[in-house]
Amino acid sequence: MKTKNIVLFASGSGSNVENIVRYFQDSPDIVISAVLTNNKKAKVLERCDRLAISGLYFNRIAFYDNNCVQDILKVFNPDLIVLAGFLWKLPEKIIRAFPDRIINIHPALLPKYGGKGMYGSKVHQAVKSNGDTETGITIHYVNENYDEGAIIHQAKTTISADDDVAQIAQKVHALEYEYFPMIIEKLVRVEML
Ligand code: GAR
Repeated sequence: MKTKNIVLFASGSGSNVENIVRYFQDSPDIVISAVLTNNKKAKVLERCDRLAISGLYFNRIAFYDNNCVQDILKVFNPDLIVLAGFLWKLPEKIIRAFPDRIINIHPALLPKYGGKGMYGSKVHQAVKSNGDTETGITIHYVNENYDEGAIIHQAKTTISADDDVAQIAQKVHALEYEYFPMIIEKLVRVEML
């Protein structure tokens, strides 16, 4: 198989980024080319240093106002763009430039708990406040609306009334670590031949 390359986007801690990088680090034909972040203080950049992978910071101007990020993506020419805890809305020009090649992970069972402002612990807090007995993850294609692209994969976990927000987050992260790299691999191997 021709080598496939993947670009990751992240805004914060980047534990999913680290998990994905580690999953593919010995792969003969799938390469993580770079990690792009909108947050210069993000812990994900420290992880990139430690993992010896390119970590690139960009600001709003580079993302929304000119074509800087888009041009960087054109150079990498990724087979797949993966949003792994990335919190800015993607501009339409980038979505159009990479049709069906951008995926996101959301820490809940969409269509529940999606949309603008629903990220990270806010999602888990809402799940807890509603007294839900299950939550999970949704991996989906990215379109121009937050969390509304076609669903690729969902996985569930049960939660008990005793679980606090941190415990719910931990259960959801465990699902993310288990499924996200596998789904990425399946997409680039099977569906992008
Ligand atoms: C993950 O749980 C991911 O699902 C979520 O941010 C977290 C990032 O964690 N994404 C969203 O909420 C997007 N709406 P990480 O930085 O440790 O990988």
